[in-house]
Amino acid sequence: MTDPKNEGLEAFCCSGSSPTISVLGLGPVGRAFVRLPELSDCCLSSVSDRSGTLCHRKGLDGPRIAAFKEGGKNLAAQGGGGPRDLDLALSLVGAQYVVDCTDTQLDACSESLARSLAILDRGQCLVSAEKSALLADPDAFLAADRLSRFGFNAVLGGTGLELKRELREIQQECIEIVAVPNACTGSLIQSIEEGLDRPEAFARARGRGLLEADPEQDIDGRDAAIKITMVARLVFGLQVDWREVERPHFDDLDLDLIRWRRKEGRTTALVCRADREGVRLAYEELELGSTLAIPWRRVLYGYQDRNGSRRIMIGKGVGAEGTARALYEDLLDLRQGREERQGRSRA
Ligand SMILES: NC(=O)c1ccc[n+]([C@@H]2O[C@H](COP(=O)([O-])OP(=O)(O)OC[C@H]3O[C@@H](n4cnc5c(N)ncnc54)[C@H](OP(=O)(O)O)[C@@H]3O)[C@@H](O)[C@H]2O)c1
Repeated sequence: MTDPKNEGLEAFCCSGSSPTISVLGLGPVGRAFVRLPELSDCCLSSVSDRSGTLCHRKGLDGPRIAAFKEGGKNLAAQGGGGPRDLDLALSLVGAQYVVDCTDTQLDACSESLARSLAILDRGQCLVSAEKSALLADPDAFLAADRLSRFGFNAVLGGTGLELKRELREIQQECIEIVAVPNACTGSLIQSIEEGLDRPEAFARARGRGLLEADPEQDIDGRDAAIKITMVARLVFGLQVDWREVERPHFDDLDLDLIRWRRKEGRTTALVCRADREGVRLAYEELELGSTLAIPWRRVLYGYQDRNGSRRIMIGKGVGAEGTARALYEDLLDLRQGREERQGRSRA
């Protein structure tokens, strides 16, 4: 960890005020987050990448850090290195809020789970775009004391906050979940419908910032399978390993069929369904007027009640900027909760 003392690092500093925030990861999502103008009343206490952590007690200048990282540099190169133990760095910095924008590493779920729980159990608040911790053990986050300090709005494309608020009720009443959770395949299908070929459709999705660092996660159905199994676990307590879910691959789609459907006034979407028995994924044919036929800039989660009504949650947390805004919504919510708790303890 590096506490900047030299002139080079002072260039990143600003006069911050509470609340204090540590940001983990400065890929497109982390950079979009530290650039948010709404953070101007917060103190960015530290930022971390794989090379180390940069911190300053007066706060760091988010946009300048983002520009520095965009140049392909490591934080350690700027600050001269330091301990790479992220948990140690976070506990030393001791910010009130930790924002996790690290990449989702499906082969390291237990490490990210341990890191997330350590943050929460230290008393810090955590908002996350990273999926693997919640995927590893959703139940671990459901304990009231942790859930009140944990936000997963960005994990579910900007619908996680609404789900969290209504979770207890949904757990009691929901009989089926239907979701269109993957904006990348939505964008690819829209491009194919417009007549673009496969490489052009991918180039456009990349330009829109929709492809994961590992694009296979989107096109082999992994991202969608992860999200629906995670939500089914939260809502039904359903224990399904996402690896065992049958996943349709985008490359197996008949692109001419997709274009033909569009000419006939219909469309195609990767739809996920879950009930208490299991989860299913399929590229479904939809009427253009269907609730599930959402624009690629949105994700949708629907929770069908036993009485026949359905709660529809539509999220805008798509791409780096949308994800950063979804993280910020969580941050605001947790700030409000924290202030209420402090108010109660003072009374
Ligand atoms: N991009 C989207 O549209 C989108 C949408 C929804 C959710 N998400 C999720 O948001 C997260 C971030 O996405 P992204 O596209 O910005 O990811 P990314 O480009 O892979 O960037 C990940 C960042 O995390 C840092 N990092 C990884 N492991 C770390 C560790 N142990 N300690 C400190 N830093 C670490 C990396 O450091 P280095 O710079 O040193 O490599 C990098 O800066 C992912 O989990 C993704 O699944 C993304």
